Amino acid sequence: IIYSDKYEASRVVADEMCNVIEEIGLAGGLPVLGLATGATPEIIYKYLIEAYQKGKSFAKTICFNLDEYYPIQKENPNSFYYSMYKQLFNYIDIPDNNIHIPHIGTLDTPLHDFCKDYENKINQVGGIDLQILGIGENGHIAFNEPGSDFNSLTRLVDLDEVTRKNAAADFGGVSAVPNQGITMGIQSILQAKKIILLAFGENKGRIMNRLLYEPITPDLPASFLKLHSNCQFVLDEACAKNI
Ligand code: GLP
Repeated sequence: IIYSDKYEASRVVADEMCNVIEEIGLAGGLPVLGLATGATPEIIYKYLIEAYQKGKSFAKTICFNLDEYYPIQKENPNSFYYSMYKQLFNYIDIPDNNIHIPHIGTLDTPLHDFCKDYENKINQVGGIDLQILGIGENGHIAFNEPGSDFNSLTRLVDLDEVTRKNAAADFGGVSAVPNQGITMGIQSILQAKKIILLAFGENKGRIMNRLLYEPITPDLPASFLKLHSNCQFVLDEACAKNI
């Protein structure tokens, strides 16, 4: 689906997230949203804050974030933990207990247990109702880098050089970018009931072109989304113009 610009696209997606919250809430359930970081969803979060200011409650919404650098401190402004609070959670009424981010603060937490527990928590609340995703220029979704396994679950991964280079400016140099990340897996993402992948701007045109026209392959992890029965790709015109 192509919208004229990222504001229009983000409005539609934010409205859809609000509708999911409304409908599941009215049916007596707890809505579960899968959230992403990076520049792409920033406007959506602004619109969700606006919705809250106009009376929408997120008190019964449960959120799971896709990924986080490893290791990193919560206080580091480049951590996804920090940016989610700064961009959204500080400004809406979601309780802390409903927020899940694959952040490991202390290195004495057994990683394997943490990752298994993250998957269990998603399953215990009945799975993700609506997952939003960005896409990396190398075709990654979350930190599922090229080569990721179709059956992968939440785990510790090595970050691709492309991913680290793209994050270098934020960290003040590539050597300061962590080498690893904790990410929900391809399978964890594909289990969501609905998925919306967002791609805005000219620099995402090349990878979206590949995604749309190349076959499904672990070399382009986002291509696994084409196996999902309820997945949309939402683009702005700048991204779509060379496709
Ligand atoms: C990052 C994140 C992804 C994000 C992607 C695109 O490395 N791990 O979850 O979707 O890259 O980021 P951006 O939206 O800033 O282009």
